[in-house]
Amino acid sequence: MVKVDLTGCATFFDASGPDFAAAAAAHRMLSEKTGKGAEFTGWTSLPQDIRRRELKGILSIANKIRSRSKALVVVGIGGSYLGARGAIELLRPYAKEGDTRVFFVGNGLSADYINGVIEQLGDDDFDVNVISKSGTTLEPALSFRVFRQLLEKKYGSSAKRHIFATTDANRGVLHDLARAEGWERFVVPDDVGGRYSVLSAVGLLPMAVAGIDVQAVIDAAIETFQALDLRSPENPAWQYAAARQHLYGRGYGIELLACYEPSFRFMAEWCKQLYGESEGKNGIGIYPDSLEYTADLHSMGQYIQDGPRTMFETVVSFEQPLTELKVPFVMGDGDKLNYLAGRDFDSVCFTAREAVKAAHIAGGVPNIGVSFEKRDERGFAELVCFFEQACAISGYMSGVNPFDQPGVEAYKKNMFRMLGKPE
Ligand code: PA5
Repeated sequence: MVKVDLTGCATFFDASGPDFAAAAAAHRMLSEKTGKGAEFTGWTSLPQDIRRRELKGILSIANKIRSRSKALVVVGIGGSYLGARGAIELLRPYAKEGDTRVFFVGNGLSADYINGVIEQLGDDDFDVNVISKSGTTLEPALSFRVFRQLLEKKYGSSAKRHIFATTDANRGVLHDLARAEGWERFVVPDDVGGRYSVLSAVGLLPMAVAGIDVQAVIDAAIETFQALDLRSPENPAWQYAAARQHLYGRGYGIELLACYEPSFRFMAEWCKQLYGESEGKNGIGIYPDSLEYTADLHSMGQYIQDGPRTMFETVVSFEQPLTELKVPFVMGDGDKLNYLAGRDFDSVCFTAREAVKAAHIAGGVPNIGVSFEKRDERGFAELVCFFEQACAISGYMSGVNPFDQPGVEAYKKNMFRMLGKPE
């Protein structure tokens, strides 16, 4: 189970410490559905719901895609792609020979990027999973046009059997199109916003195609949400939410989410969207940033150690490495590294982590540790449930609605006007 370590912040707290009574009240609002945006809290029961409703269908389509296609092109942006991309990079960072590769498009407007994916597909058989709750988001809708045409050129009238649409159950442009064209459909539940949707078909279909055991993910998620229902300051979600709100109140307005596993990069992007979109509103909110250690210590380390003292660090770690690698012994010791010979890289990394933590704390950066046992299906499920629940509690503690994103509309309005979209 997830563990939160607040010992690295203790000296930065004031005498009152984190407000666990406020965390308890926020948790109650979430579970009793009395808080703002309660109509979008369906993610709290999503694992059970998906197991009952759609999991079988997702697994069967994923198997079909894996057996017939070399690639799946996933079209989506924001909450409609970051979770799946994060999961695949975390759990299956290197595709093996014979695996169905998963490409992500529709998360930008770069012609070079889209053409690059088309080039990599070559003549390979492929399927498309277009994901959009609203169906009107420009970036995925434009990319989908391109890949739909490719499918039609390649497969003619059978193209429709290669398109899978994940969208609203009852309405929207994509829903209507899918129904009219006869594409297989999966659902983004009405009561689940994009950034909380990774444990629905939005995340699970691409993950299953990439070879992730999504059944194990869902089983572990059910257990984790049960465990996180604990009503006490022992609850790791309370600890994390209350600590970050306390630090925010003391002037630490930037959170650096760091991890020593490069494969965590897109999970960090997922976390950034989750927290940024949930909390940054009404003129308040912790700014979420992410760093990859130790690489970024050689680019951003100076700033963290010595820049403005407005940052706190949240370091995600996985306790058990999946593989071993020993530092080799070298005759002659020309590079003077034999003092490390025979040590596992993981133990060197652990020492580096402790050294960085001590240096940053001494430099005035509070440190929160969040650890999971292993970088596997269970670890992923725990990570998702923990960060989602803590985000909702933290958002309620700050007084915002953690489930809306009114600010995202501003750029869209300008863009559509400037592109000449008819009213
Ligand atoms: O979290 C959110 O709601 C957003 O990130 C959306 O997922 C994103 O804007 C994509 O929207 P849609 O799925 O409607 O295309």
